[in-house]
Amino acid sequence: MSSVKPSVYVTRRVPLPGKEILATECNVTQWDQDDPVPRDELLRQVKGKDGIFCLLTEKIDEELILAAGPQLKVVGTMSVGYDHVDLAACKKHNIKVGFTPGVLTNAVAELTVALLLTTSRRLKEAMAEVVNGGWGTWKPLWLCGQGLDGATVGIVGLGRIGLTVGKCLKPFAVQKFLYSDAFENPGAAEIDAQRVPLDELLANSDFVLACCALTPETREMFNKDVFKKMKKNAIFINTSRGGVVQQDDLYDALKSGEIGAAGLDVTVPEPLPTNSPLLTLNNCVILPHIASATDKSRSSMSELTARNILAALNGEKMPTQVRID
Ligand code: DGY
Repeated sequence: MSSVKPSVYVTRRVPLPGKEILATECNVTQWDQDDPVPRDELLRQVKGKDGIFCLLTEKIDEELILAAGPQLKVVGTMSVGYDHVDLAACKKHNIKVGFTPGVLTNAVAELTVALLLTTSRRLKEAMAEVVNGGWGTWKPLWLCGQGLDGATVGIVGLGRIGLTVGKCLKPFAVQKFLYSDAFENPGAAEIDAQRVPLDELLANSDFVLACCALTPETREMFNKDVFKKMKKNAIFINTSRGGVVQQDDLYDALKSGEIGAAGLDVTVPEPLPTNSPLLTLNNCVILPHIASATDKSRSSMSELTARNILAALNGEKMPTQVRID
């Protein structure tokens, strides 16, 4: 690095390690708040910066790159998903992009399992009944849900997270894992998962888990045609991005009994408006995008983001760089 310290803008209050690591070699300015920086302020603040430490809530597009100026070398996003980053614009302006795979895999997988069980065993309804006086006595037919014992689990997108979810679910006596993905994952052998066409997965799975990235190909792929192909009692779980689901179609499928239930950690938009029809459904569990929210995971994400940025500024290999083709 030259004797003039590079400057980095951090777009939010983030776990300490990231900021501390950056501060050893850079001048750091920060939007020191828990809510997102307004777009016009962001565009002002990035001017003249060499690096940007951002979150999934900031749109990194050509407008922002031009607002920053030609010295901008790197954008590090504190997330494994990077659908908010215009990779073509980054490539055009020779900007490296870092992301945070690996360090949140276990946290996301754990939350996916928690959401799946909450949804399939009807815990939202059950907890409400305890509070609202609906709990009369022990009743054989009351609040029965679906178990994983003997079930077929279909994973759409068997990357790091999808595979880890599979490994976590295996001890629940799952009978069969299916997956659909553009690529074969050799790790699938660890859970005896069989790669099948999407339609076959949909027709045979009791649980359908969206673990794929949001891309032009996966945007709204879970739509009415896809819900129609699922089993009537299918439980649909999404911890990837809300954009992979056509939400009106999901509402119709849940309301009409086309599918059994859904658990969502991600929606469009976020936050989901409190008058969303999805919130009126007993068979829909919604969490506020907390899959990676453990202290350990968030701290590691912050640290890795800073290390990516420093490496790029120093002309070194970034620990985890997004490949831009
Ligand atoms: C990510 O990292 O992309 C997650 O959605 C954040 O939890």
